[in-house]
Amino acid sequence: MINVLARAASRAAVAVNSRLASPVIVLQIRDYSLAHQDGLPKLPVPPLRQTCERYLAALEPLVSEEELDHTRTLMAEFLQSGGVGERLQKGLERRARKTENWLSDWWMQLAYLDSRMPIPVYTSPGVVLPQMHFQDRQGQMRFAAKLIAGVLDFKRMLDRETLPIEYLGGKPLCMDQYYQVLSSCRIPGPKKDTVVNHANGITYPTHITVVHNFQYFVLDVLNSDGTPLTVDQIYMQLEKIWNSSLQSNKEPIGILTSNHRNTWGKAYNNLIKDKTNKESVRAIQKSIFLVCLDAPMPRVSDEIYYSKVAAQMLHGGGSRWNSGNRWFDKTLQFIVGEDGSCGLTYEHASAEGPPIVFLMDHVVEYMKKTEMVRTPMIPLPMPQKLRFNITPEIKKDIEKAKQNMNIMVHDLDVRVLNFSHYGRKYLKTFKTSPDAFIQMALQLAYYRMYQECCSTYESASLRMFKLGRTETIRSTSTDALKFIQCMDDSSKQNTEKLVQLEKAIKSHRDYTHMAIHGQAIDRHLLGLKMQSIEDLTSLPEIFMDTSFAVAMHFNLFTSQVGSKTDCYMCIGPMVPDGYGVCYNPMDDHINVAVTAFNSCEDTNATKLACFLEDALLDMKALLEQTPK
Ligand code: COA
Repeated sequence: MINVLARAASRAAVAVNSRLASPVIVLQIRDYSLAHQDGLPKLPVPPLRQTCERYLAALEPLVSEEELDHTRTLMAEFLQSGGVGERLQKGLERRARKTENWLSDWWMQLAYLDSRMPIPVYTSPGVVLPQMHFQDRQGQMRFAAKLIAGVLDFKRMLDRETLPIEYLGGKPLCMDQYYQVLSSCRIPGPKKDTVVNHANGITYPTHITVVHNFQYFVLDVLNSDGTPLTVDQIYMQLEKIWNSSLQSNKEPIGILTSNHRNTWGKAYNNLIKDKTNKESVRAIQKSIFLVCLDAPMPRVSDEIYYSKVAAQMLHGGGSRWNSGNRWFDKTLQFIVGEDGSCGLTYEHASAEGPPIVFLMDHVVEYMKKTEMVRTPMIPLPMPQKLRFNITPEIKKDIEKAKQNMNIMVHDLDVRVLNFSHYGRKYLKTFKTSPDAFIQMALQLAYYRMYQECCSTYESASLRMFKLGRTETIRSTSTDALKFIQCMDDSSKQNTEKLVQLEKAIKSHRDYTHMAIHGQAIDRHLLGLKMQSIEDLTSLPEIFMDTSFAVAMHFNLFTSQVGSKTDCYMCIGPMVPDGYGVCYNPMDDHINVAVTAFNSCEDTNATKLACFLEDALLDMKALLEQTPK
């Protein structure tokens, strides 16, 4: 609520400022945006019986007949008239009436702020941009300057509320996440974290943070009238930063932010006991965003270049390389490497991938259009270097964080697949959903590798609803299993295989439709479980049986994040023996990033990527060789 009021105040402030320049347009935009946001429907609570039936159906391809029978019995008890299920459902419905979104606070806590795992790899995604070929350091600085100007241009759209409203299936989407990504930062706590947004309607940060050689600088990017510095001015300021951070013997203080959250929470309290440290940390937290000027990474063959950059975006490459050249708590960090490796990483609590990638698309377009024009030399103050006093205790925390990070780096297996044989245009000519087709290829790939299927999570947007985040599409359906078994059965004709593929794709599309309309099962089950915890009653048995554990163990954690820019988004696996798979279906090719953990003997990112490539090719052959 505080957030909503602050946002309203901030809009009013922007409208007053902008009114001087162009009164009518600004007022219209402002009213339109408010009307849009207020008019969004609330996230529904699905009917109880519907969710329970759909849950049992989702278990079919995953558990044995005995396990399923046991769950059916537990479910019947849960659904008894006047029983636990009805009571929890009523509690949830009450919560839905009283709140803007019955799920969003729980989700923020459970999915992000309560999680004690390190942010890099475990929650923060990375985005890889095409390789840049800088001729020299000036090239890198020019690129970074244009990028910063592009993000500030995006910020201007946000401030003026001229950001175009997005639609999904013809329905307008909640735009709230866009307002959460700039000037915000996660703050570690000893038990749970918080997220603070510093663009609170009363004060507006006017600086970004730039980090080079583990040294942090405050760079003021807005003039006193709110206009941004020109690209040329930003470039000159970056040059100054570069020249005053040449020594690379500094303590990588930022690596502390990569630690286990309890450990970092304790180290944080210790760090900010010192006044100078506290002011430096606050300056980073408050900044609009962070820019990491990365040192070159070890050279690798072209074949694995993008896999290496994906890892760099996820964790920075280790304490010897760029992992200390970050502040992982910061919501948005753009990375510009001296060797041309570019992209970003973002802290996930505030937003999903699509708004981040939309912002990135805008920045890339802006950079294409913008040429550096020499501006009259107005002397600008030297960007302020942030000081840190490193006590022996802090030094010890840094050493520990370095060790942990290096273990994490060695454990992460990343493989990028640039599937160049076709893309979404081709699939659309076959009148098939590219997303469902790729998901079925993933099912086939996994089954071929393990001779069984697994619980699969695909993110679906809930942004049709006010403050909506995501729901799970369960791609492993009974129809998907029938298709993958039929596909490799030599006794089956192609016509039958194609029929099974079409059925599986239809099931996936139906599930997607259900998910984006708030009628899928995972968030509802979570709500019922949370309601039971809040009511301080014993947890219903449906949440404690083997089926539930299997259903929630997502060996395949997947997400489609599409973009105009030819980029790769990457995510870590959700479970120790699982995979993270992120894909971007472009018109004529598909970018895929697969991750796994080396510590798990059963997983192998390269192998799954190869199986996926084969599955996509075999399914293409099936489409082409089978007369309709
Ligand atoms: N025939 C022809 N074209 C078809 C088709 C068919 N049978 N089925 C789909 N298409 C078209 C669509 O119209 C769409 O066209 P467009 O590109 O012109 O808009 C295109 O193919 C893509 O559709 P599809 O592949 O089915 O996927 P989608 O765009 O519906 O996306 C989700 C599906 C689940 C990815 C999307 O709904 C979603 O929720 N995205 C958000 C994911 C998210 O939040 N991730 C978080 C990561 S942190």
